[in-house]
Amino acid sequence: MYRSHTNGELRIEHINQQVTLCGWVQKSRDLGGLTFVDTRDRYGITQVVFNMDDNADLCKQARSLGREFVIQVEGKVAERSNKNKNILTGEIEIIAEKLTVLNASKTPPFTIEDETDGGEELRMKYRYLDLRRNPVQKNIRLRHQIGLATRNYMNSLNFLEIETPYLIKSTPEGARDFVVPSRMNEGQFYALPQSPQTFKQLLMVSGYDRYFQIVKCFRDEDLRADRQPEFTQIDCEMAFVDQEDILNTFEGLIRNLFKEIKGIDLPKVDRMTFDDAMKYYGCDKPDLRFGMKFNDLNEVTKNKGFKIFDEAEAVIGICAEGAAQFTRKQLDALTDFVKKPQVGAKGLVYVKCNEDGSFKSSVDKFYSQEDLAEWAKTCNAKAGDLLLVLSGNLDATRKQMNELRLHMGNLLELRDPNVFKALWVVDFPLLEWDEETNRFHAMHHPFTSPKAEYFDKLETAPGEVKANAYDMVINGVEIGGGSIRIHDKQIQKRMFDLLGFTEEEANEQFGFLMNAFEYGAPPHGGIAFGFDRICSIFGGSESIRDFIAFPKNNSGRDVMIDAPAKIDQEQLDELFLSVKEPIV
Ligand code: AMO
Repeated sequence: MYRSHTNGELRIEHINQQVTLCGWVQKSRDLGGLTFVDTRDRYGITQVVFNMDDNADLCKQARSLGREFVIQVEGKVAERSNKNKNILTGEIEIIAEKLTVLNASKTPPFTIEDETDGGEELRMKYRYLDLRRNPVQKNIRLRHQIGLATRNYMNSLNFLEIETPYLIKSTPEGARDFVVPSRMNEGQFYALPQSPQTFKQLLMVSGYDRYFQIVKCFRDEDLRADRQPEFTQIDCEMAFVDQEDILNTFEGLIRNLFKEIKGIDLPKVDRMTFDDAMKYYGCDKPDLRFGMKFNDLNEVTKNKGFKIFDEAEAVIGICAEGAAQFTRKQLDALTDFVKKPQVGAKGLVYVKCNEDGSFKSSVDKFYSQEDLAEWAKTCNAKAGDLLLVLSGNLDATRKQMNELRLHMGNLLELRDPNVFKALWVVDFPLLEWDEETNRFHAMHHPFTSPKAEYFDKLETAPGEVKANAYDMVINGVEIGGGSIRIHDKQIQKRMFDLLGFTEEEANEQFGFLMNAFEYGAPPHGGIAFGFDRICSIFGGSESIRDFIAFPKNNSGRDVMIDAPAKIDQEQLDELFLSVKEPIV
C-alpha cells in the first residue's frame, strides 16, 4: 500500500494514528531544529515535520528535497500548535518517521501556486504542471461534475447515450472541415464531424427516440475565447416532439445543472424572438443581466436641422442609468471606443439628464431642451441618466450599439459573473443572404424546418421565412442551439432548391440521409449545447480554455506536443499526398 490517506483527508480525530502519505513537495522550510515539508496531491496539502533532535538523518534527508519531488512519508498524526485555517488539514501535522523519495523533479518553470508566476504560453507548454495547480484542478473537477450531472439527468428522462463515428463525411454546420486522408482509398478523405447532426437524425429514423451524447466536434474556424477547433457538445435529439417539447425538456436540463452544481434555482427561462433580440439589443445573444434596451429615436430626432440624423436610416439611443456624471474625458473615451475600426461608428451623440431637470447634449446647437426632453421620455430616462445615441444604416447601427451597450455594461460593472440570466431566442430566420456568394445560406443547417405558416413564402419571399430554430443564451453567450428538422421529402427538396443545390449535389452530399428518410422518418428535432461554454459560465470565466485539460492556443496549436507538425515523406506517399515546399 503506497498510502493510507490522501493529503486532504486528515483531521483532528486522526491524532495519534500511524499514517502513510504520498504527494509532491509543495514547499519546505528549514527552521534549524525543525524542517517543515508541505506535501500536496489533488485532495489537499498536509504539513510534515522533521525534528533534528529526534532523527538527524531523516531531517537532513528532508532538507535535500526539492520542489515537486514525489515523496512517501510515514509518521504519526499530531495536533498543530500553530493552526492554519486556510487548509482543510490545517489542524494537524505528521511527525515524520520515514521518508522515501519516489522520484526527484527538475525545478518547475513556474510556481505551482494558485497565483503563479508563469505566463499563459509557458503554462500551456507545460500544461501537465499547470494542471497540478488548484484553480485549474477546480475547473477540471467542475467539468467532470457537469458531465456526470448531465448524464444522470438525461438517463432519468430515458435518453440513451450513443456514440457516433469521428471518421465521416462533411457535415453541414457551415465551418470548414478538418479532413483525414484515407490510406486505403487513394485521393479520398474523411471529414471529422463538425457535429453528429446527420447521425442523430439517422438514429431517430432507427427509432432511438431520445438520444444524447457528450461528444467531441471539430471545426476549422477562427478562434476566440469561446471557440476551440475541437470542442465538446452535449448533443441531443428527440422524436415525436414539437419545438415546445424540446424547449421544455432542455430548459429542464439547464435548470437541473444550475441546481445540482451551483445550488441556484434558475427561474423559468424567458423567450425572445430573434427579431426582438435584434431590435432591442442589436444581436441574437443579448446579455440580460442589465437593461440599456435600444430605443428608436427616429421620430423625435428628425427634421431639426441635424443632417446626420436626418439622413440616417436608424437613430438608436440607450439610457445608462446614473451615468450623467460621466466626465468630458470619459465621454471622449466612449467616442473613441465607438470609432475603433472593430466597432466602426462615425461618432457618438450624448445627452446628460441633469439632476435639475435640464439637459446637456453634444448636439445642443440643433436640439432645444424640449426636444431633448422628448428623447429622454422615449428612452425612459430620468434625472441623473446618460443617453448615448448612434445613427446610420440600420444593421450597422444595431451592431455598433450592441458593442457600446456591452462596453457600458462592463464600465458600470453590470455584468456580474455570479448573476445568471438565461434566455431562449426563438423564431430565427430560415435563411441568411450571403453578399459574397450572392445566394441564401441556411442560417442553422439545411435540415431545419421552416415554420408551417411560412411554407407558402418559401419561393416568393424566402428572406422572410422563419424557422423552428432556437438558441439558448446565458449572460450573452450562446450556449446551445437547435431546431425541429424537416422530415417531409417535398419540403426538403424545396429547401435544397432555395439553397441552390442541384438534385445531384444534394444526393452526393446528403443522399444517405434522404434515402433513410424514405423508410419512415418520424417528426423530430434536437439541440446541442456547448459543453465547454457551460463549464466556463458555471466557473465564472470568459475563456473555455480554462476548462479543457489540453486546449489549443489561438493559432490552433497545441504548444505542449507541438501539433500540428510535419509528417515524413514515407507517410505522405502512403497517403498519396504531396506538400508544397513553403515559399521562403
Ligand atoms: P451549433 O453549431 O449551434 O449547432 O453548435 C451548438 C453549440 O456548440 C457550441 N459551439 C462551440 N463551442 C466551442 N467552440 C466552438 N468552435 C463551437 N462551435 C459551436 C455553441 C453552440 O451553441 N448540430 C447543431 C445542433 C442541432 O441542430 O441540434 C449544432 O451543432 O455553444
